[in-house]
Amino acid sequence: MCQYCGCHEIEPIGALMDDHFEIRNLCRHIRGHVEADRREEAVDLVRQLVRYFTVHNSVEEGGLYLSMTRFEEYEEKAGTLYDEHDALDAVIDDLLALADADRYADIDFAPLLAEFDVLLEHIDHEENGLFPAAAVALDQADWDRCERLRTAAVARLDGPLWKEQGEAAWSSPRA
Ligand SMILES: [Fe+2]
Ligand SMILES: [Fe+2]
Repeated sequence: MCQYCGCHEIEPIGALMDDHFEIRNLCRHIRGHVEADRREEAVDLVRQLVRYFTVHNSVEEGGLYLSMTRFEEYEEKAGTLYDEHDALDAVIDDLLALADADRYADIDFAPLLAEFDVLLEHIDHEENGLFPAAAVALDQADWDRCERLRTAAVARLDGPLWKEQGEAAWSSPRA
């Protein structure tokens, strides 16, 4: 576990793991809304989830995954993780297109909930596989790129991502 190897003390990895905490929380709340057929509430939280992915996936795809493809043994793993982001994005895009057209009744949430199951495994593979490996393999230039990507992605958001950055963000303050 990452908690034991200490990789979360590397700032960009710690930030990604904090994102995971919020992302898992949001998935759980969305599932609850879907099960209670609270469609608009579920969609509102999906939009919040998208804000996290905008930042989180930018750092992973343009930073961590890309850096790890320097190492042959991680090329395939990084490719799989990229593809899993794309699959989830596609499901969310379809869902939000219906919401934007005010067709809430037509939304099928089943593919989203199925993707959440994949996402939980995806996060597990990152936290217990790629992140500890990256902590050993990568250097300061890689971490600096991750930091720059996060800063740039947050700046492109409509508001702050985390609660302590303002009023708009979701859930508890970042640890
Ligand atoms: Fe990821
Ligand atoms: Fe992640």
